[in-house]
Amino acid sequence: MLRSEDVKPQTWAIVGGRPDGNPGAPLNTPLVPASAFVLGGERIYSRNEATEGWESFEALVGGLEGGSAVAFASGMAACAAVLGRLPSGAHLVLGDDCYQGVAGLAQAGARDHGWRVERLPVADPGWVAKAAEADLLWVESPSNPLLDVADVAAICGAPRRPGTRVVVDNTFATPLGQQPLVLGADVVVHSATKFIGGHSDLLLGVAVTADPDELALLRTARGLNGATPGTLECFLALRGARTLPLRLAQASASAAQLVQRLGEHPAVHRVRYPGFGGVVSFELADAAAADRACRSVTVIRHATSLGGVETTMERRNAQPGQEHIPAGLIRMSVGCEDIEDVWRDLEGALRP
Ligand SMILES: Cc1ncc(COP(=O)(O)O)c(C=O)c1O
Repeated sequence: MLRSEDVKPQTWAIVGGRPDGNPGAPLNTPLVPASAFVLGGERIYSRNEATEGWESFEALVGGLEGGSAVAFASGMAACAAVLGRLPSGAHLVLGDDCYQGVAGLAQAGARDHGWRVERLPVADPGWVAKAAEADLLWVESPSNPLLDVADVAAICGAPRRPGTRVVVDNTFATPLGQQPLVLGADVVVHSATKFIGGHSDLLLGVAVTADPDELALLRTARGLNGATPGTLECFLALRGARTLPLRLAQASASAAQLVQRLGEHPAVHRVRYPGFGGVVSFELADAAAADRACRSVTVIRHATSLGGVETTMERRNAQPGQEHIPAGLIRMSVGCEDIEDVWRDLEGALRP
């Protein structure tokens, strides 16, 4: 049986999570829409027991991250399952710029369970010392939407108290950009809705760990909370993940071009880019200028979310909970269209 360690991630994305290679076996895991199974076998009810569809998706993502994956109904369901294990009064360290849903979970934990939530700038070297004090470090890097970069290797490798967990939200970087478990993280989470799925047509999440106890707890939490992924979503995300390396290579190449051209454009005050990946943020003079640009594009779609084959952009400060983001900041998720078409569209939209 081929293992993920035997091949490059680009190859595992294609060959991972397939049925066995016996004569007559299908190349792809069949879609099995069933909530219940005839009793007496391994599977009973598909909220609790993995269907083949999840197992295939989990095998593929687990192999890319270097651990065992647990698929969830959404990225938020994965984040909630990981954070939900924190006891009352726990000390949680979170980036000052992070996905607003996760900040909302932290706020609810502070209110309902007395969590002490400390926010640190994403790139602050102080994260390393916090590993010895806190119960959980939640690292999102690159951050959303300011694209600040944490020293993930230093944080994951820092000495910590027994029981302290480091969790990395790897949604923006993808397992091709960084592999936090290899660096010493305890859990990696993804909104698979984004780059892994890649087509903006599903909601899905995944948590990955190399720790068998954590794995068992995550699976139990998924079943108890009913945060079970849909069979169709797993099928589609698995198909989408096959082209993750290709999509990401195209998106990154186009993003690097756009960063350069935006940097030279007189209407653009600042460009933020972590140096890799498909997300670019740039600042225009004010909210009105950014709204005008977002409403003017035709090749690019004015939409939230990211990681799809299509280029999208939005003014982040217009979203609830994002009031701290500069008013004129546009977050753009670069897709796979021809770069000249995207640039012509963007340049036209930036005209006063
Ligand atoms: C970095 C990050 N983490 C988690 C989530 C939550 O994922 P989902 O929307 O799939 O629930 C998002 C969604 O935008 C995100 O950007």
